[in-house]
Amino acid sequence: KRVAIFISGGGSNMVRLLEDMVGDHPARAVLVLANDANAGGLKKAADLGIETAVVDHRPFNGDRAAFEAALQAKLDTVDPDILCLAGFMRVLTEGFVAPWEGRMLNIHPSLLPKYKGLHTHARALAAGDSEHGCTVHLVTPALDDGPILGQAKVAVQSDDTPETLAARVLTKEHLLYPAVLRRFAAGDPTPVML
Ligand code: GRF
Repeated sequence: KRVAIFISGGGSNMVRLLEDMVGDHPARAVLVLANDANAGGLKKAADLGIETAVVDHRPFNGDRAAFEAALQAKLDTVDPDILCLAGFMRVLTEGFVAPWEGRMLNIHPSLLPKYKGLHTHARALAAGDSEHGCTVHLVTPALDDGPILGQAKVAVQSDDTPETLAARVLTKEHLLYPAVLRRFAAGDPTPVML
């Protein structure tokens, strides 16, 4: 299977996916694309020998359809089977998502369906949750809403701040996403629960 990965920043999840896609893994990365030329993950991907691309959303001045057409045009050059969003911070409309439905994955730093959207760690702390975590799901047009492919849990500690909690969740993301992609690329729908 051919995998393309979208990032917006440091790409720590993308790096773990690239590092895992070796040997007998059923997938290979064919592209890492960022919506910002300054995304730190671009150099990490290039250093790992993966083709990179930038499609900056800003020149499109809010014309989401035009931005998404540029994204798709770039994807057409590498013909991926699977698209992984990994720290990608742009909302994608139904126009982009619909053709990818069923083969587009995203990782979200909460135990979905709780805390869709942003600031998930602060919201979990504010709610007094005893546990939190991350979810990999299939992307549907509704934000952070598709079928769950895997989850990983962390215990919330009494002295946690959003930052300390985010750091523990991110460590789990780095285990969960590669495990889910391995199963998904092998055609195994069994959810990964860590
Ligand atoms: C992190 O907040 C992570 O929880 C979420 O995206 C952000 C950046 O991740 N998935 P990455 O280091 O760019 O993969």
